[in-house]
Amino acid sequence: MTADILREKFLAFFQARNHKIIESDSLVPKDDPTVLFTPAGMNQFKKEFMGQDYGFKRAATAQRCLRTDDLEKVGKTSSHHTFFEMLGNFSFGDYFKEEAISWAWEFLTSELNLSQDKLMVSVYKEDTEAYKIWKEKIGLPVGKIVKLGDKDNFWPAEAKTKGPNGPCGPCSEIFYDFGPDVGCKEKACDPSCSCGRFVEIWNLVFTQFNRKDDGSLEPLPNKNIDTGMGLERLAAIMQGKQNNFQTELFGPIIKEIIRGQSPSGTVPENKLLYAIADHIRAVVFSIYDGILPSNEGRGYVVRKIIRKSILHLNCLGIKDPFLYRLVAVVAQIMHKPYPELTKRQEEIAQRILIEEKNFIHTLSSSEELFENKFAGFIQKPNPETVGNIVFLLHDTYGIPLELTRQWLDKQKISFSLKAFQQAMEEQKARSKSGSAMKGDVFGAKGLEIKVKESKFVGYKENSTEAIILAILKDESEINLVRRIVLDRTPFYAESGGQVGDAGKLISGKNVFEVLDTRKIDNYIVHIGKIRLGVFKEGDSVTAQINIERRLNIARNHTATHILQAALREVLGNHVQQQGSLVSEEKFRFDFTHFKGLSKQEISKVEEVANSYINKNQVVSCKEMTFKEAKKAGALAFFEEKYGENVRVVAIGDISKELCGGTHIDNISKIGLIKIISEGSVASGIRRIEGVTAGFAEQFIKDQEQKVIQEAAKLCGFWQIS
Ligand code: SER
Repeated sequence: MTADILREKFLAFFQARNHKIIESDSLVPKDDPTVLFTPAGMNQFKKEFMGQDYGFKRAATAQRCLRTDDLEKVGKTSSHHTFFEMLGNFSFGDYFKEEAISWAWEFLTSELNLSQDKLMVSVYKEDTEAYKIWKEKIGLPVGKIVKLGDKDNFWPAEAKTKGPNGPCGPCSEIFYDFGPDVGCKEKACDPSCSCGRFVEIWNLVFTQFNRKDDGSLEPLPNKNIDTGMGLERLAAIMQGKQNNFQTELFGPIIKEIIRGQSPSGTVPENKLLYAIADHIRAVVFSIYDGILPSNEGRGYVVRKIIRKSILHLNCLGIKDPFLYRLVAVVAQIMHKPYPELTKRQEEIAQRILIEEKNFIHTLSSSEELFENKFAGFIQKPNPETVGNIVFLLHDTYGIPLELTRQWLDKQKISFSLKAFQQAMEEQKARSKSGSAMKGDVFGAKGLEIKVKESKFVGYKENSTEAIILAILKDESEINLVRRIVLDRTPFYAESGGQVGDAGKLISGKNVFEVLDTRKIDNYIVHIGKIRLGVFKEGDSVTAQINIERRLNIARNHTATHILQAALREVLGNHVQQQGSLVSEEKFRFDFTHFKGLSKQEISKVEEVANSYINKNQVVSCKEMTFKEAKKAGALAFFEEKYGENVRVVAIGDISKELCGGTHIDNISKIGLIKIISEGSVASGIRRIEGVTAGFAEQFIKDQEQKVIQEAAKLCGFWQIS
C-alpha cells in the first residue's frame, strides 16, 4: 500500500468519525516562539488545546514536520528522518482515551489489516485508565502491554521535569514488532529497547496538562487528544520493508543519485544515499515554505543540511552540483499531497543550485582559505587558537573538520580538538537560546504617563474633535518639538511599513503642526511643533490629518498589495513579503525570490499590476479572528505580530492580506503603478521600489525628458528645454 493511499485512508477514516480535515500547516510555526520548525501535528492546535474554541472539536491532519535533533542518526538507522509527515487525529475537549485507543486499534487492525500478533503497546506507568482500556476494552493480553516512565510515555518526553512549557500529558504508544530475528535478539527485548526490533508507529497523547514556568502541571480546561503516526514508518511496514528508505517515498531519489554516480547504476545502497534522500526532502519543503538558506536561524539550518548533503555526494564521487537535480524527483513523489510543488520545482532547484555552486567553490578554494587563516601559525602554533579557527571554518564556511585536519597535518600545525569541541558546544548553547524568538523587542522608552489609551478613528474619519490628554517635551530638542497624546485621533501611527500621518491640531487660533505620528506603549503620539499660540492638557482640539498626503500613502499601500499579487502571478507563489516601506512619494517592497528579475519580468509584473488596477475593484477591510482569516485564505507573513483579531484587506478576487494599514476604497484610484528599481537586499531577498498616480506620471515624464536630451545630444544640439 503506497503512502498516498495510506494518507488518504487515514484522513477518510477520521473524517467518517466527524473530524474536520485541516491542511498541513507550514514548516514555519506561526505564533509559536518555542520551536524553530513545526515538529509535530499538534503545533498548529496549541490554542485549541488551551481551551480556545474555533468551531470544531475534532480534527485530522497529515502534517509536514521537520526535526533536526536526530540529524546525525539519519541514514544510519532505518527510521529516523529530518523531514517527515505525521498523520494525526485530535480532540479538543471532546473524546478522550477510550475513543482514541479504540479508533487507533481499529484503523491498524481492521482498516489496514495488520495482525494483532505484530503489535505491542506501552502506557505511562501511572496511567491505570489507559492500561485498563487496552486490557479490557481492546482485549490485549497483559504480555503485550508494557508500562514505561517519563522518558518514553510522557509527551513531550520528560516535560514534567525538563519542560517545555505548554500542553502535555501521558501517552500510549503502538509498536510494530519485526520479530525476534531482528535487533538485539535478547529474550527480554521489548518496546523500551532501541535495537530496532520494535518500531514505534503511533503515539497517542492524552493532553490534559499545561506545564507552567515553575514546573507545575496545571490541568487544562478540557481533556484533549493529540496523536501522531509517522507516515514513512507506516508505509514501510505496510510494504513489508524493514527500512523506510526502501519505500516509494525515497526509492526514486536513491535511484537518481545512483544514476548520478554511475550511469550503469550498479552501486549498492548505503547510508550516505539514505541520508541524502532524507535531506533533499527537508531542503525542498523548507524552501517551499519560504525558508531560504542563510546564515541565521532557520535559514542556517537549511544551509547546513544542504552542505551536509553536498559533502555526502562528494564522498560518493559526485563533485559537480547535483542535489538540485533531485528536486524534480521529490516533486513527483509528493505530487498527490503537494501539487503546487510541481509548479515550483524549477525555482526551488535554482535556489539549491546557487547554494551548491557557492559551497563547491568554497571547498575547491579551501587550500587558499587555509593558507590565509593559518598563516600566523606555521612558525608558532597555538593549538587552542588553531582549534578555534578550525571551528570557525566549520561553522562559517561549512568546511568539514576532516578536510581542515588533513591540511593541518600536512603543514605540521597541531590543533586542540578540545578547543574545537568547546567552541562547538558554545555555539550550540548560543543558538539554543537565540532560537527562542521573542515578539517585539523595541527598546523604546515608555512615555511614563498614566492616561487613557488613545482611540484610533482614522480608518473612517480624517478629522475629529479630541481632548489633549498629555503634552510632553522632547528632551533631545529644547525648541518647540512636542509630543501630544489625544483621547481619540484620526492620525495613523507608523506601523507595518506605513509611515505616520502628518496634519494639524487646531484649537481656536492655536495651531500645532503634526510632522509625524508614532506609537509608543499603546499611545498614539503626535510629534510636531507649535506654530501659533499655546496648548495645554485638557484643551479641546480639532485633529485634522493632511488628506492629500494620506491619499498618496494609501495609494502606495494598496499598490504594495497589488504588487505582491502580481509578483506571485508572474514569479510564483514562493514570493512572500519580507518587509515594506510605504511613504507619500513611493513604496518599497521586499520579497523572497532567488535571483534578480529580468527586464522582461519587471515589465510583465508592471503590466499585470496595472491590468489589476484597470479592473476597478473595491478594497474592503474587515475584522475577523485570525483563524477565520486563515480559512479565508488571507496572506499573512508576519504572523507572530498579529493578535487574536485581525484586519483583512481584500481587493476583489485579486488579493487578500492581513494588514492594519490605511487603503484607498477602489483600486482605480491608484491610476498607475511604475516600478522604478529592482535589486537585492540579502541572499534570496529582492527589493522593488515603485511609484503611483501623479508620482508615476512625473517619473515617466522625467524619463522621457532624459531620453530626449540624450537623443538631442547625439543629434548635435546641446540642450532642449
Ligand atoms: N505530539 C505527539 C508526537 O509528536 C503525538 O502527535 O509524538
